[in-house]
Order: sequence, then structure tokens, then C-alpha cells
Amino acid sequence: MRTPSLLLAILLGAAASLQSAADTTELLLGPAKTTHLHFFLHDTLTGKDPSAVLVARNRTPKPDDPVPFGSLYATDDVLTEGPQRESKVVGNAQGLYISSGRPQLSLVLGMDFELTEGPFNGSAFVVYSRNTVAEHPVGRELAIVGGRGKFRMARGYAMLRTHYLDNNNGDAIVEYDVTLHHH
Ligand SMILES: *[C@@H]1O[C@H](CO)[C@@H](O)[C@H](O)[C@H]1NC(C)=O
Repeated sequence: MRTPSLLLAILLGAAASLQSAADTTELLLGPAKTTHLHFFLHDTLTGKDPSAVLVARNRTPKPDDPVPFGSLYATDDVLTEGPQRESKVVGNAQGLYISSGRPQLSLVLGMDFELTEGPFNGSAFVVYSRNTVAEHPVGRELAIVGGRGKFRMARGYAMLRTHYLDNNNGDAIVEYDVTLHHH
């Protein structure tokens, strides 16, 4: 009986110190807020002014695959209010993604999403996550690991839906539904 009660004491101690860590964060930064954001990301690989450019690739890519496994892209993607490129610009997503799925298209994204409109103008949240483009065209989830400005210390998630994807050249418009917890 001694071992289980010792274990319980350790677990209770760990829970108490987690609780006090949360209290300290609240004291320093104020209570947590929840913010929802909705926008469309335009990832354009083609044309005279692409927003995503190939910076490195696998030496033996599969033919006819616009984003073959091992391709690394740098991005400065436009974020708009509505799905059309002419719709109001609300921010940009700078960073990179690598094609990381061998059997089907899947990416790992490391991107900083900065807003340029509204109450969060100049603030940004940061995604570092797998993006299962082929497996989940609707309802794939990305992890939000941090933020800047009003989104300092942010945690959260983004639900993605492919609004448009050109399978020949990789151009895409992706709908983002973002939930952020921040202080
Ligand atoms: C957003 O912030 C920038 C930099 O402070 C400023 O130049 C710009 O006018 C702001 N935009 C809006 C829509 O408030």
C-alpha cells in the first residue's frame, strides 16, 4: 500500500505545482483570452510573382508531382478576408514548408502569421505543425506554438480546409479557422 500512496502524493504535488505555474502566469500576464480568427491563405507557386519558391529539393523527385517529397519552400503568402485574391488583405504568412509525406502529399510548416489589419495589427502567431493536405482536405488541424505582440505566449490550433488546389502546379487557397489562447 505504501508505493501507491507515495505515487499519489507525487502526482498531487505535480498537479499543485502545475496549478501554481498557471497562477504565476496569470499574475504576470493577466487572465487568458480566447481569440478566433478566420481568413484565406494564398500559396502561389506559379506566375511572375510567386508567394512560395522552391529553395531545395530531393535529387530524384517523382515525375508529375508538383511538390515531391523532400521539396523545401520559402513563403510570403498573402492572407485575405474572403477566398478571392482581390478580397481585403489582412496579413501574411512568412516561413517555410517541406514536403514530408512519401506516399501522399503532406507538409511540415514552420510559419509566422502576422496580421496587418484590425485590433491585432502587427501581432503574429506561429505555427509549427504537420499539414496532412491529401489525407484531410477538410478539417485538418495544425498546432500553434507561440506568438508575438498581443499574441505573446499564445497557444492554440488552426483548422484548415482546402478551398482550391491545382494538382498540376500546386497553387492553393486554404481556409483557416484559428483558435488562440493568449494573455
Ligand atoms: C497597421 O500597423 C502599421 C504599423 O504600425 C501601420 O502603418 C498601419 O497603418 C496599420 N494598419 C491599420 C489598418 O491600422
